[in-house]
Formats: sequence, C-alpha cells, structure tokens
Amino acid sequence: MANKGIILTGHRPTGPRHIGHLVGTLENWREMQDDYTCYFLIADLHVLTTDFEHPDRIQANILSVMTDWLAAGLDPEKATFVRQSALMEHAQLALLFGMLVTVARLERVPTYKDQIQNLGLNPSAGLLNYPVLQSADILIYKADSVPVGEDQLPHIELTREIARKFNTAYGETFPEPEGLLSRAARLPGTDNRTMHSSWGNTIQLGDSPEETTKKVMSMYTDPNRVHATDPGTVEGNPVFDYHDIFNPNIDEIEDFKARYREGKVGDVEVKRRLAEALNEYLAPLRERREAFAQDPKKVLKVLADGTEAARPVVQATLDEANTKMGLK
Ligand code: TRP
Repeated sequence: MANKGIILTGHRPTGPRHIGHLVGTLENWREMQDDYTCYFLIADLHVLTTDFEHPDRIQANILSVMTDWLAAGLDPEKATFVRQSALMEHAQLALLFGMLVTVARLERVPTYKDQIQNLGLNPSAGLLNYPVLQSADILIYKADSVPVGEDQLPHIELTREIARKFNTAYGETFPEPEGLLSRAARLPGTDNRTMHSSWGNTIQLGDSPEETTKKVMSMYTDPNRVHATDPGTVEGNPVFDYHDIFNPNIDEIEDFKARYREGKVGDVEVKRRLAEALNEYLAPLRERREAFAQDPKKVLKVLADGTEAARPVVQATLDEANTKMGLK
C-alpha cells in the first residue's frame, strides 16, 4: 500500500453522496488506496461551522456517507477511516495552529469570503477557523498529498504556510503537502446547474435503477430543440456530458452526437441509452451498497476501528507539537 507517501482527504458528512462525488473524487481515492497510505476523514466538526442547528442529522449523515464510500470501493483493508470529532487531537492541534496565523490572513481565504458574500452569512469564529482545522486534519498525519477539488486549493495553500511557519519556528516537523487535483471533469447536475444535493438535481449513489432512469429521462437537454428533427446542440448538453463519462461505447456516442446535430435522433432515445449505460456503470457499486446498507453496525465499526488505529498516530504528532511549542 504505502510507497508513494501519505494521503489525507475527507468529506463533511452533509448527506448521501451522488454521482458527482463518485466520478469527481471517490473513484480517484479508490485508485490511490493501492499506492499510498490513505486516511479518509469524516469531517463532522466541520459540518458545525455552517450548520450547528441540526444535531439530529449528523449521525445519520455519517452513516450514509460511510455507506456510500464503502459502496464506491473505499476499502478498510487498504485505507484507514477516521472520524474527526472522535480524535480530539485534531481540534487541539488546530488550536495550536491558530497561534501561527493571523485573523487578516484567514479573512482573505476565498471560500470564507464567498460564504459571507454570497450567503450573507454572519460568520462565526468557527467558520473563520475552518481552514485551520483542515490544516490540522492534514498535518496531524504528516500527509504528503491531499486529493481535493479545485475549490479546496486555498486551504491546502494555508496548510503549507502553517507547516512552513511551524518548521521555521520550531525546527523541521511537518511536510508541505501538495494538493492533488483529480482529472475527472466536473459533472453538471441533471438540470445543467452545478450539482447540489439540496437543489434536487443529483443522482444519488443510493438511488434505485428505476429512480435513476426517471431522473435521466427528465434531464435538461438542448432547450431550443422542440422536435426530434430540429438540429440539436451537443456542447454543454449534460446528456452528452454524461454519455462521455458513463457510456463505454464510444462509437455509439459519436453516432448519437452526429445524428443529434443533424436532427436525426430524438432526446428520448439518447436518454434511454444513457439510463441503461449509467445503470450498468453503477451496478457493481449498488451490489456492494446493498450489502453495507443492510448492516449499518458493520459500516460504523469500520469507522470506529479506523479511528482507533489512527489514535496513536495523531497522539504522537500532537505530542511532538506540544513539546516543540513548550508545553511539555
Ligand atoms: N473542506 C473539505 C470539504 O468541504 C472537507 C475536509 C475537512 C477536508 N478536512 C479535510 C478535505 C482535510 C481534505 C483534507 O470538502
């Protein structure tokens, strides 16, 4: 497993995972399990930075994210699953790191600025500290690489700054981790907007084949095309974006695209084939998911066992940081 180095990455448990998570991140992580020492983090403390008002949801969301992760092929034989809130060392290291970064620096973090501008949020100190906690998540495992989406790169940059600052002040301790961007294209939602669970435009990993077909059949396509005989547009049409990713039959896709442009194929036929291809693509995942969904105790045990396996690792790093900062 381990030869390319240590990876730490994770998700906030905000709800079921969808096919955007699958092709954007989970398939990527699945491949990395063979080459890296991988820690997959359920960042439940991070959920509270924007939503502390629904404590009733967190446990169910942890279970659904873990179930979907395992269904996607993340494998406890190869990787370690960690629950952030169960290892207080994460929070404690974040507290220490908070001393090494200015408020002004944190106020310039783009994700933070976006959230207060776009959502009109009145930010909590917890939200301002979000990337400091994330830095602790990463550096407490001395991770070399962090596979993330592009939006997370500013957090990796801050992590590198904190590592440098610590190393300069107290001697070489932390590696400066690299952000690894996945090569998978960003998948649009079924309505062609950004995929967002709360917008009802996702296909979830837990959806049945029937639900999936229904969602595909009502997908957004070229809005200017009224009849099957009207020439259609392929570019920026999510039905074809999905075909490109999920349909292994490249000749068929090319044929559909050519006929679509000429007005020689209907949306229904193109979508019907997409639904079939997507359901075939998801079949092995669903089979695994079914087994895990029936055994939530086993799923949670994977997380509990991984967390215990990680405990000595995070204790050692926190101990080292405490000592170097003069607390021992
Ligand atoms: N901020 C990440 C997200 O929203 C989740 C996360 C928390 C994370 N800690 C992490 C990702 C550490 C990578 C490494 O997706």
